[in-house]
Amino acid sequence: MKNSSRRGFMGKAFGAVAGVGAVASLYAMKRSWDPLPSVKAAGFTTLDMSVYEENVLVTEKWRGKPIFVLKKTKKMVESATEKQKSRDIVVNGEHFMIVIGLCTHLGCIPAYNSSKEGFLCACHGAQYDWSGDVTALPAPRGFDIPPFKVEGTKVILGEVSSEYTEMKANGVTL
Ligand code: FES
Repeated sequence: MKNSSRRGFMGKAFGAVAGVGAVASLYAMKRSWDPLPSVKAAGFTTLDMSVYEENVLVTEKWRGKPIFVLKKTKKMVESATEKQKSRDIVVNGEHFMIVIGLCTHLGCIPAYNSSKEGFLCACHGAQYDWSGDVTALPAPRGFDIPPFKVEGTKVILGEVSSEYTEMKANGVTL
């Protein structure tokens, strides 16, 4: 009697262990089938726009490319021409320049001079203003704007919004 109840106990214990093992291995299998978080997010970069300071250039990354983010000052916003305004990305009432930080001449990375509020490309001398528009040759056009979508206080790079589509249609960016 004692033996049979012991066998019963052992059987249940083994059963429980085997059950836990089966659940654990199923979980492990599911995890290995699921894409990694980095793969899920591939192609998209989310920027929290609340962290940027006025006239301080920050270089982010999207699909391996440098992305220049510049929060515009009140003076920049007030003095902007229609062409400069057309490049604006407005988030929560704040105005930003968000562009691919590669010279449109041959792809060097221009430097920002905050006191001059403009960019200079050291390779062949092209210049850009604080809106990212070209002001001196040989660059053929302003900085290109990456696909973007504004969501609350965030900007998702890699998502195509109607604002971005309109910019492309109007020739603001390639
Ligand atoms: Fe910038 Fe030529 S690559 S001016």
